[in-house]
Amino acid sequence: MPGIFSRGHSGANAPAVPPKVAAPAPDVPSEPEVRQGAEQLMTQPLPFVRPDDEEKATVAEGQPETAGGAVAVDEVVIGPTGRPTPVFPDPRPVTSHGHARVISMCNQKGGVGKTTTTINLGAALAEYGRKVLLVDFDPQGSLSVGLGLNPHDIEPTVYNLLMDRDIRLDDVVVPSGVPGMDLLPSNIDLSAAEVQLVHEVAREQTLQRVIGPAIEKYDVILIDCQPSLGLLTVNALTASNGVIVPLECEYFALRGVALLKTTIDKVRERLNPRLEIDGVLGTMFDGRTLHSREVMERLVQAWGEKVFHTVIRRTVKFSDSTVAGEPITSYASASTGADAYRQLAKEVALRCLDA
Ligand SMILES: Nc1ncnc2c1ncn2[C@@H]1O[C@H](COP(=O)(O)OP(=O)(O)OP(=O)(O)O)[C@@H](O)[C@H]1O
Ligand SMILES: [Mg+2]
Repeated sequence: MPGIFSRGHSGANAPAVPPKVAAPAPDVPSEPEVRQGAEQLMTQPLPFVRPDDEEKATVAEGQPETAGGAVAVDEVVIGPTGRPTPVFPDPRPVTSHGHARVISMCNQKGGVGKTTTTINLGAALAEYGRKVLLVDFDPQGSLSVGLGLNPHDIEPTVYNLLMDRDIRLDDVVVPSGVPGMDLLPSNIDLSAAEVQLVHEVAREQTLQRVIGPAIEKYDVILIDCQPSLGLLTVNALTASNGVIVPLECEYFALRGVALLKTTIDKVRERLNPRLEIDGVLGTMFDGRTLHSREVMERLVQAWGEKVFHTVIRRTVKFSDSTVAGEPITSYASASTGADAYRQLAKEVALRCLDA
């Protein structure tokens, strides 16, 4: 089978972890911001620390800590990424909608916060007046469930939009329950598309073609990818201007990132030259542990300014809001989790929407 999938990057064929030997650096780095040797940094072990030392190193009780996890030191606020935290302005108000930026939430590792980030970043951007479309591009349908839909009751879905030329975008879009935010829902039917699309002409461009009409109606389109680097994810990357990589602040989470970066580079070279990495987002961060802070430090060493200053701290409120079927910005509007996603919305707007 020709194309990108013949190189072992389908979900079925991709190795669970990258090779222990560091991948060779590309001749011409397509992302100059990403530090040389990023792959090595991602696969090297973290320094071993005895539990006693860790206890001493955790943030001292009573030390001032901000909602986003930042620690104030002599008025300079050092954020959880170890860098001074800038103050992000509110996103620019918009008077008309359109020219959407399409952003994929992508990481082939499962359970890193892709769906949670799609829902809550979308809801926070909608709060700031942006018209948002969320695309559930995972046959698990978690995004649809997280917004209160029953996957068995959804018809038509993204699957029908991809496979049936008589179905229009407007037939599938549903309100998300959040003002200003719509949803293209999915369910298990989408898993058949991965197989059926293989026989289509321009199979990698199918999603790009069907969401085309949404570009002029929305300001932001966020695509929630499944945890694999198969044909659906390549479709999402081909349809996107940018990628956000949510990454759990945990050592094993670092190990698949080299493979993800290679896939993004290949899609950029072969299918979508405009594709950029909009940012790497640390999720499930626990500032009390040295481990979380070391993983974050390693991320910043490897990805530099690509790492968002905003990190999402670990809190049970996210699971609760999923059960409630709504974003944390409405379920627990005053929580630190909601504030963190509002801050991420400001940072994303500054970095790639209002730039
Ligand atoms: N910051 C957080 N703190 C605590 N729990 C979180 C946080 N973010 C997400 N979760 C929870 O972790 C689980 C996995 O999150 P989520 O579904 O967003 O990950 P995912 O990357 O989309 O997973 P998958 O790869 O299976 O699609 C969910 O139960 C979610 O509620
Ligand atoms: Mg998900």
